[in-house]
Amino acid sequence: MKKETKCIHSGYQPKNGESRMIPIIQSTTFKYDTSEDMGKLFDLEAEGYFYSRLQNPTTDYVAKKIADLEGGTAAMLTSSGQAANFFTIFNLAQAGDHVVASSTIYGGSFNLFNVTMKKMGVDFTFVDPECSDEELEKAFKPNTKAVFGETIANPALIVFDIERFANAAHKHGVPLVIDNTFATPINCRPIEWGADIVTHSTTKYLDGHDATVGGCIVDGGKFDWMAHKEKFPGLTTPDESYHGITYATKFGKEGAFITKATAQLMRDLGSIQSPMNAYFLNLGIESLAVRVERHCENAQKVAEFLEGNDKVSWVNYPGLKGNKYYERAKKYMPNGTCGVISFGIKGGRKKAEEFMKHLKVVMIATHVADARTCILHPASSTHRQLTDEELIKGGVAPDLVRLSVGIENVDDIIEDVNNALSFI
Ligand SMILES: Cc1ncc(COP(=O)(O)O)c(C=O)c1O
Repeated sequence: MKKETKCIHSGYQPKNGESRMIPIIQSTTFKYDTSEDMGKLFDLEAEGYFYSRLQNPTTDYVAKKIADLEGGTAAMLTSSGQAANFFTIFNLAQAGDHVVASSTIYGGSFNLFNVTMKKMGVDFTFVDPECSDEELEKAFKPNTKAVFGETIANPALIVFDIERFANAAHKHGVPLVIDNTFATPINCRPIEWGADIVTHSTTKYLDGHDATVGGCIVDGGKFDWMAHKEKFPGLTTPDESYHGITYATKFGKEGAFITKATAQLMRDLGSIQSPMNAYFLNLGIESLAVRVERHCENAQKVAEFLEGNDKVSWVNYPGLKGNKYYERAKKYMPNGTCGVISFGIKGGRKKAEEFMKHLKVVMIATHVADARTCILHPASSTHRQLTDEELIKGGVAPDLVRLSVGIENVDDIIEDVNNALSFI
């Protein structure tokens, strides 16, 4: 199946007389005739469901669809994108271990790694994604367990050189984890470029309607855990908390990672996506391919309009010919990148605030990547306590405006932005 068809048909194929839409199995538990039947499930000897904190048929249908779209072998849904990234790293690294991560990632992921996971004893080295080979080499330590980056960084819109980082990770015997939230599997399939595990905040384009918070982890099924046995004892030695199962030998390269994340992390931490939310997520994914195409088409036109406006000091969008990442974006995402643009308003913070006041169609919101065009001026909202100097030091220009272009008629978006710019 092609990607557009997978968006609709993957994960769930109804049998004779069954519902065409995925059923919402809104049930905590599942009934069995004998204790032996249930025992087999607990021992991971049989496939099936017993408690929705671990697995649920509705969430599994949707996870399978996303796995198929990404070209992976197994997947799990989580309650949020934060949970997906936390589970992924924690499934690989524990106290005393170390991870190499791109320094330009979503602020929430940076905080999770730099503050919360550091408190848990997992150390991180953040590297500039454009660093030299020597600098990248120096970031690795004997206890490094993973490399992490975003296909298109939020909000910097830096296109990550997936192949380069995959080669570096593999040279050191560790997997590359890619957060593919902004590109989506419609525009980029990181596993085909060497990534081993892909994560998503499904809250963004996958849901795409500003309706549900969620996350997903997809395993590419290619990383050979047993070839790096000492590095990944959690996958390659018996799990005493789960009947002495060795995930890598029992479930192989294709299934070990997600089975361990389910059996250990979901069991103990319980960050599940509800069946109802998974149903809404699936509705969003059905139109993902057409929506993403429209988001990119609209964003390209809006970025070109902004480039030609004299109230705008700069525009950052990887689809613009003059953009630093234009060529790399063409390599990894030949059909388009995403709908998010950042740009600067001449006159800085005050003028940007004034511009925002006059928008009518474009909504002010701390979100990106859904059907409705939305906008955020960090210096007057999320980062308002910082001075201009502090903002610049933190990599957020005082004049920076982040615009997430939706799927409305692009003429209405441009007219609204043009009108608001005319007031400043
Ligand atoms: C690239 C990226 N990863 C992860 C997250 C976290 O996802 P969530 O808000 O669903 O927890 C976000 C949220 O904005 C994001 O943009």
